[in-house]
Amino acid sequence: GKTVRVALLGCGTVGTEVARLLTEHADELAARAGAPVELAGIAVRRPDKHPELPQHLLTNDAAALVESDVDVVVELIGGIDPVREWLLTALRKGKSVVTANKALLAEYSAELFEAADSSGADLYFEAAVAGAIPLLRPLRESLAGDRITKVMGIVNGTTNFILSAMDSTGAGYAETLDEASRLGYAEADPTADVDGYDAASKAAILASLAFHTRVTASDVHREGISNVSASDIAAAKALGRTVKLLSICERVEGEDGTESVSARVHPVMIPRSHPLANVGGAFNAVFVEADAAGSLMFYGQGAGGAPTASAVLGDLVAVARNRVVGGRGPRESAHAQLPVRPMGQT
Ligand code: HSE
Repeated sequence: GKTVRVALLGCGTVGTEVARLLTEHADELAARAGAPVELAGIAVRRPDKHPELPQHLLTNDAAALVESDVDVVVELIGGIDPVREWLLTALRKGKSVVTANKALLAEYSAELFEAADSSGADLYFEAAVAGAIPLLRPLRESLAGDRITKVMGIVNGTTNFILSAMDSTGAGYAETLDEASRLGYAEADPTADVDGYDAASKAAILASLAFHTRVTASDVHREGISNVSASDIAAAKALGRTVKLLSICERVEGEDGTESVSARVHPVMIPRSHPLANVGGAFNAVFVEADAAGSLMFYGQGAGGAPTASAVLGDLVAVARNRVVGGRGPRESAHAQLPVRPMGQT
């Protein structure tokens, strides 16, 4: 088939791995996609800071790269502006988008899906939730014939690392966060992680897909881990429990029989015998319950360059395949709208 030309926006930890794997595994990826998948350009803020990348591909003009002769835009910059405009432009022009941008999807997925539908482009975002773990594709596709009732799990590696370390050392929150930053497990600005914003964005994405409705980050009740103290952890231990930050998305039935969706993120004391209690370090784990399937468990690396790049490349092969055969991946716009419970009600 005709070469699929890829624009890469952002080249940090994940982007570097994507560029490397795309180049090193070019033949295999081409065989799987049905056409060569070629890196056509890489937009970074400071091209001079990337001597390791092929210089002829670098630009600091992401908008122009999106408008150029590319078929797919892979976005790994993050944040809402100016990325939102670039991705909307790409989708409206029929260019497929692969993104790991959970904050953007948790706020503007309706607009993005609409733009994708307007041109028939694909919008894939497996890497936005739970890194390497295949989770969104199963929710969107494998379980499309079932009725999901609950999605619950650990979707933030940073807070899981901190809580696991507090549990094993008995140290306090602030001290453990400092240690996590020193070891590179926490970002320089850990607010989005420790205050639960990252997990809330992911919960919004999970709830939207699982329940075929629109849940945004502001619909998610959110409580982070900064108030979890060494004595909370000790009290949990005395009860045979441990503390985990969980994202919990549920289909709930009111007394009058009407259904709605509830999504929340908060620390939970769970029995040490629970499978989620043994998920340590930067790992993620998610349980899905569906009427016919029963309970499913998804487990693996939720962050990091190579694991996240695996999910991005999987999406890239999928959208390249769709282009080669002239088809499309799953649509999300024609949803039934289940109401979302106001924040705080559970
Ligand atoms: N900051 C995120 C985490 C990265 O700690 O899980 C992956 O989305």
